[in-house]
Amino acid sequence: MKIIRDVEEMMALSRSWAGHTVGFVPTMGYLHRGHTSLMQLTRPLCEHLVVSIFVNPLQFHANEDLGRYPRDPEGDAQKCAAAGVDVLFIPEGFYPANFRTRVIVSGVSSRWEGAERPGHFEGVATVVARLLGIVAPTVACFGEKDFQQLEVIRSMARDLALPVRILSGPLVRDDDGVALSSRNVYLSPSQRERARSLNRALFAIRDHRGTVGERLAAGAAFVDSDKIDYLAIVDAEDLEPLPDDAPVTRSARAIVTARYGSVRLLDNVAIEPDPR
Ligand code: PAJ
Repeated sequence: MKIIRDVEEMMALSRSWAGHTVGFVPTMGYLHRGHTSLMQLTRPLCEHLVVSIFVNPLQFHANEDLGRYPRDPEGDAQKCAAAGVDVLFIPEGFYPANFRTRVIVSGVSSRWEGAERPGHFEGVATVVARLLGIVAPTVACFGEKDFQQLEVIRSMARDLALPVRILSGPLVRDDDGVALSSRNVYLSPSQRERARSLNRALFAIRDHRGTVGERLAAGAAFVDSDKIDYLAIVDAEDLEPLPDDAPVTRSARAIVTARYGSVRLLDNVAIEPDPR
């Protein structure tokens, strides 16, 4: 496995692959089985597989955890090599000094994480657009763990006619049911125990029969957190909330974000429409 830090070198290599299939999994590092599952999904679909690690300052705002985002460069490189990655791209000097562009995806970015973290999806869309330009993949893979992010990126790729197929991988959970996240290391043992309530709440919402409001009430009863930022059932494509007083009639997602001290945890689950 080759490690590349220079943007120009990555561009020259990806240009030399023209006509070949190239797979790409962008990450912020501190890799876990959620990340490696995306590598395993993409590996058979491409001749060359690139993973990037870049903690993107544009998607954090001032009082967030940019400075203390967990890092493990050596462990990450080992995991990538074991997953059959050809190139690990860890850019230095990623944004040129005169970088002026921002990518804004309207609508699907506005609620939920977009409302809780103003500017976050603008930062995500901008970094992903630049990474796609540098790596020029034929297929790029993102996790359903960050369900809204996935829909933002799908919208961007479609609207800008980017020559890449956007692939998604299922959310991977730890043995205790908690969604794997690099940020889980911040949780104390008791917070971790309480965090198990999030997936229980989502499964209760998925399995309950009734209106959207009744499902949400059934789920909310399980949540043990310091604060729920949101708990909702949304349309799986545009992320708009479904009406409270009706059953689920189309493909939907239950989404939750809750806080444990200063740690925000995200989780979600697919909801099938009620049989009619
Ligand atoms: P990061 O949080 O490192 O996640 C990288 C990719 O791994 C994302 O597509 C994310 O959805 C996926 N992922 C994380 N945890 C997962 C889990 N438990 N199961 C399945 N997939 C999981 O998301 C980002 O980085 C950044 O916003 C990025 C897209 C790299 C842009 O900076």
